[in-house]
Amino acid sequence: MSNTIVIGAQWGDEGKGKIVDLLTEKADVVVRPQGGNNAGHTVISEGKQYILHLIPSGILWPGKLCVIGNGVVMDPVALLKEIDGLIEKDIAVSPENLLISNRAHLVMPFHREMDAYKEANRSVKIGTTKRGIGPTYGDKVDRIGFRLHELVGDPAAFTERFSARIAECNRLFESVGLDPLDAATLAEELLAAGRRLAPYCTDTVEVLHREMKKGSTLLFEGAQGTYLDIDQGTYPYVTSSNTTSGGACTGSGVPPQKIHRVVGVTKAYTTRVGEGPFPTQNDDLADRFHKMGREFGATTGRKRRCGWLDLVLVRYAAMVNGFDELAITILDGLDDCDEIPVCTHYELDGKKLHLPPASAKDFARVTPVYETLPGWRCDTTAVTRYEDLPTNALAYLARIEKETETRVSMVGVGPSRDQTIIR
Ligand code: GDP
Ligand code: IMO
Ligand code: MG
Repeated sequence: MSNTIVIGAQWGDEGKGKIVDLLTEKADVVVRPQGGNNAGHTVISEGKQYILHLIPSGILWPGKLCVIGNGVVMDPVALLKEIDGLIEKDIAVSPENLLISNRAHLVMPFHREMDAYKEANRSVKIGTTKRGIGPTYGDKVDRIGFRLHELVGDPAAFTERFSARIAECNRLFESVGLDPLDAATLAEELLAAGRRLAPYCTDTVEVLHREMKKGSTLLFEGAQGTYLDIDQGTYPYVTSSNTTSGGACTGSGVPPQKIHRVVGVTKAYTTRVGEGPFPTQNDDLADRFHKMGREFGATTGRKRRCGWLDLVLVRYAAMVNGFDELAITILDGLDDCDEIPVCTHYELDGKKLHLPPASAKDFARVTPVYETLPGWRCDTTAVTRYEDLPTNALAYLARIEKETETRVSMVGVGPSRDQTIIR
């Protein structure tokens, strides 16, 4: 048994799906501990592309158990759509290989409405995915949320509480000029979803502990990334869950001493979708990627902002997550660069910063200080052994290791499963 957590070291979309897919071969159980269908994890398996939102990427491997943990916020209708979409692509999904925590909170239609309304009316926009994530976690913390066990196990109590909540929301909606929601129609839709999800709903904490007793290997698929973490990220330009490694424990009921390895995933450069500070942002680099058809959001299709690698971010991410190793993805994205600037530290008001500031205002004011490394200017997409990478690429990776004090154990040189070099 060797349990591994995979965590994004930047603002999400680091390529976690691909790394999880690769590591699934040696795992028995793949767990999604937090986030919701704001996530979009791309996996290319046997030439076909899959984008997973709520279901762990391990679902593409036969014989692996996938678990949606208690820390996830789950939209029942969106989840069923995702299950049906996979089945249509001949991927087996059933309670044999997918279980959902009965403690998982539900994203309700009014959460999605509120997300969109708040985002449209915020003077300082966050750029949310409008999937209802913030309002759902808000209700969870406010102790007024709906959990899967209630929808599945007590439909009468669910309907009563849901109708009361809709009435309350409608008063609010009408006061701001939004159309009211129809409680009866929505409750019926949710109850129907609940009936279909009932066989998947269980106490996943018990399941995971039983698996560990049997000696099964667990793999945790973090969603989002360190700088979208509600505590460690660029608050308030963050998501509403703990996306760092601790979130994998609280979001699954697996205690920290059962974790043996934490893998940080970082792109060889940096991207961000949505608003918020991004010191190394570079619009020329973004244009180059967008013209190549790259760096569009896997969930919303929005253009991702792009920039050079920011080692301040990866350094702090290694600290707060306890990275044992780093997976560097899309090294091939830099194949045609003559020179590659990397940000080693920031300057703010005449002071050197090696770690990110707490305040988003300060984050937006820092000056990134770069060191420029020579590019390798050759195609790395067919390289299969670490030592066969071009000398300048090896020097680039060594620099990352030095600045983050973390060993690079995997390198992505293309989107498919076999384009990952294991060192
Ligand atoms: P996630 O949310 O962290 O799973 O990442 P996304 O799937 O949102 O975005 C990562 C994108 O990069 C996807 O389009 C992947 O197919 C792609 N990708 C992942 N690793 C590599 C790599 O090493 N090289 C290239 N060229 N693309 C990659
Ligand atoms: P994966 O798992 C990239 C961003 C949104 C927005 C902010 C808050 O694919 O890496 P939310 O809808 O969560 O309230 O939006 O967080 N965001 C992501 N960005 N990858 C993700 O997930 C993201 N999930 C949320 O763009 O800026
Ligand atoms: Mg993504």
